[in-house]
Amino acid sequence: MSDINSDQYQIKEEPYYRSVGNEVEMYQAAYDARMPVMLKGPTGCGKSRFVEYMAYKLNKPLITVACNEDMTASDLVGRFLLDINGTKWQDGPLTVAARIGAICYLDEVVEARQDTTVVIHPLTDHRRELPLEKKGELVKAHPDFQIVISYNPGYQSLMKDLKQSTKQRFGGMDFDYPETEIETEIVQHEGGVDADTAGKLVQIAQRSRNLKGHGLDEGMSTRLLVYAAQLVSKGIDPMSACQMALVTPLTDDPDMRDTLSAAVHLFLMRVGRRERTGAQTKQRAQLMTHVVYRFERVPSQGLSTRAVNPFQSAHTDWYPSVLAVCSAASAYLGGICVRREP
Ligand SMILES: Nc1ncnc2c1ncn2[C@@H]1O[C@H](COP(=O)(O)OP(=O)(O)OP(=O)(O)O)[C@@H](O)[C@H]1O
Ligand SMILES: [Mg+2]
Repeated sequence: MSDINSDQYQIKEEPYYRSVGNEVEMYQAAYDARMPVMLKGPTGCGKSRFVEYMAYKLNKPLITVACNEDMTASDLVGRFLLDINGTKWQDGPLTVAARIGAICYLDEVVEARQDTTVVIHPLTDHRRELPLEKKGELVKAHPDFQIVISYNPGYQSLMKDLKQSTKQRFGGMDFDYPETEIETEIVQHEGGVDADTAGKLVQIAQRSRNLKGHGLDEGMSTRLLVYAAQLVSKGIDPMSACQMALVTPLTDDPDMRDTLSAAVHLFLMRVGRRERTGAQTKQRAQLMTHVVYRFERVPSQGLSTRAVNPFQSAHTDWYPSVLAVCSAASAYLGGICVRREP
């Protein structure tokens, strides 16, 4: 038995989690089999919230470790510390979790070096044990113990990836930004705004996500949308709220910031056609026509990649017709456009 106070790791209040598919049942089944689980998905899409929710639902303590490249195996497992009475062993978070039967959540695990991650191997196969070599102890995992890891597949490079022998110890669950209605509901609930405002924020984010790989490493996350909504609910005007929560954190590139600000402007102005004033219609039209369309998904809507990607095309003499096509496409799809000279 351990003398660790596991109560401190218990989640006392039910976290708000809006399920997006069958992830709750899938996780429940994986937990029942004590299968290690890997959550993959972009930043701010709900992975941590999901783990907190599941730990609450399963009534298990949750120990979260934010992994980084300086982390050593001792940071996970434990080490001897010096005090007045000599040396004293202190368990690391992984050992504590294994002893008390917690869910151990290793966040952004690819950040840790591969020689660090291998310490989880004996805990993640049939052995379910953790050798504390320096202490000369073999910890048998508590029957309730489970390991969950998360990572963002987009950021990993060849240098930073998990070994196959690590990956193949986990069941995987893909996470992504929720579909429009669900994300609107989340932003409304978490941000304390009305459905209309939440809906507009989600539309802005969706357009930014299409710019991933075209000047943005990642689109606006659900987390940032919640921030924007929280600012609006505190009385900040929506344009400034979006600038602070959605545009400034995302990129330092002035062109891209202009693009994102224009998109924010466009969607915040978006009111029903009948309610629009003449000035709004004109402003909207101006925003639309001085742009070149950079929307990767457009081909699926029937336009060729060349037509919508003029900067990657050798056919610069297409420009006037491209502009026309792009304006029409942006008007049709409400996409994000970049204002640039050919
Ligand atoms: N399905 C959901 N239900 C409730 N809230 C959600 C959901 N998805 C996202 N959120 C909101 O988005 C915020 C960010 O989610 P979370 O912290 O879980 O992201 P994450 O995927 O762990 O990101 P990171 O990889 O950066 O750690 C949460 O605080 C919550 O407000
Ligand atoms: Mg997280």
